[in-house]
Amino acid sequence: MAIHPPEERIWWNEKLTKIELTWITIAFLWGLVMFFAMIYWHMVGEQNLSNEAYKIKPDVFGERTEAMTEKYTVREEGDTGIPVVHPPAGTEVYMLARLWEWWPILELEKGKTYRLHLSSLDWQHGFSLQPTNINLQVHPGYEMVVTLTPPETGEFSVVCNEFCGIGHHNMVGRIYVVEPGPVEYLTDGE
Ligand code: CUA
Repeated sequence: MAIHPPEERIWWNEKLTKIELTWITIAFLWGLVMFFAMIYWHMVGEQNLSNEAYKIKPDVFGERTEAMTEKYTVREEGDTGIPVVHPPAGTEVYMLARLWEWWPILELEKGKTYRLHLSSLDWQHGFSLQPTNINLQVHPGYEMVVTLTPPETGEFSVVCNEFCGIGHHNMVGRIYVVEPGPVEYLTDGE
């Protein structure tokens, strides 16, 4: 019926029929169910993280990431010498996204809590921590802050899961989780 124009032009003045009222009620109640399901699943689903998000200028975020890297680099990896940064436990740690890398590599301690700041210097990227179920959109101009406590040691990959151009499939970062222990910094440390 809906593909034909209404017989009465002023259709909104007509009385609601029973079937219309029934469907409106069902749709409204289902909307409520879905709304409360979001809150419920946030609590018990262990899927949606409780993140914080702030506005930040890309160059300010870049400077903070560089300052952390200058202080706490323990070694360099790969042909291009990507710094591996081991920040003190319990501190603010930064990882930036740009075409086409996650920078720097982070080395965190098992069982210690960190506030991980993520932002982009150029376009939208996606932070997907493998093999865990952590997925975040990373935008320039905003930083996402995740509070995390790595439960086990190992090597984790950060895969970009938002298409960001020709190098998208190469945009892989790394996070190491190690046992707590003495750390020797290449740079000035603390
Ligand atoms: Cu960055 Cu895809």
